[in-house]
Amino acid sequence: MKPEILVIGATGKTGKRVARRLEARGLAVRHGTRGSGIPFDWEAPATWAAALEGMTSAYVTYMPDLAVPSAQDVIAGFVKAAEGAGLKRLVLLSQRNEPRAQACEQIVKASALEWTILQPSWFMQNFSEGGFLESVLEGEVSAPDSGAKEPWVDLDDVADVAVAALLEDGHTGQVYEITGSDLLTFEEAVARIADVTGRALTYKTITPKAFEETLVAAGFGETDAEFVATLVSEILDGKNASPSDGLQRALGRQPRSFLEFAQAAHSAGCWQ
Ligand SMILES: NC(=O)c1ccc[n+]([C@@H]2O[C@H](COP(=O)([O-])OP(=O)(O)OC[C@H]3O[C@@H](n4cnc5c(N)ncnc54)[C@H](OP(=O)(O)O)[C@@H]3O)[C@@H](O)[C@H]2O)c1
Repeated sequence: MKPEILVIGATGKTGKRVARRLEARGLAVRHGTRGSGIPFDWEAPATWAAALEGMTSAYVTYMPDLAVPSAQDVIAGFVKAAEGAGLKRLVLLSQRNEPRAQACEQIVKASALEWTILQPSWFMQNFSEGGFLESVLEGEVSAPDSGAKEPWVDLDDVADVAVAALLEDGHTGQVYEITGSDLLTFEEAVARIADVTGRALTYKTITPKAFEETLVAAGFGETDAEFVATLVSEILDGKNASPSDGLQRALGRQPRSFLEFAQAAHSAGCWQ
């Protein structure tokens, strides 16, 4: 079977869910990661043409983040390569209310491609598969939050919207702000996980500087740690403390709740 859909970041938290859904429908998917048979590396533009060859659509996650200063040039180069390769449709994973990510979105919007932009809120799966998994397992979670509530999103919802945008008509030119409907502070989210798992979990708000130090201790370089700590504290400063209706507009259904996420992650053994 000839692959027709390129999934960039196909082993990542959103990409693996998108790839699985497409493959379950019998569609041929090309995995775009650095370790794929046909490798794709954001830092090596020479890999892009081979990865794009023969593709009609692409799900695009940018690593490390669309907010890094170099992202706009890279996205501009990628969009040009995609147009040149004959790609028709591009679904971009972006984020809410981030001006540098919005500048990248603008480049995609100005292209000749059929585009859909996904702007998810904070991932529930950050606790079960992402950067906060280790601290949940250790029993003490800390973040530079402001006490603001966040409409955490389940990545199964994000993947459902991505697949609809890749396969169905009617999503071209749409910007979907995808959130859950439960508004929970970081502390409340951690308390829900404690309730579901029976684990003793504490939560502590720390300064961006202290968060940066935990990242350095976890192996981040100093520049990356400073960038991530600043980005996380900006995301959690309260500007995103409201749910949005992107999922409902795209799929006509309600989002999964934080409790459903926590129960599913617990059953899957994520916190054992
Ligand atoms: N975390 C959140 O709450 C949140 C919220 C909104 C938006 N986002 C956005 O989500 C994106 C991250 O997506 P994710 O969480 O699905 O990723 P992820 O789980 O961190 O997975 C990263 C994926 O990208 C691949 N990858 C890493 N470096 C690469 C490179 N240089 N070139 C090509 N592929 C590379 C990895 O595979 P290999 O290592 O094998 O190459 C892997 O498949 C970011 O752009 C972030 O802004 C995150």
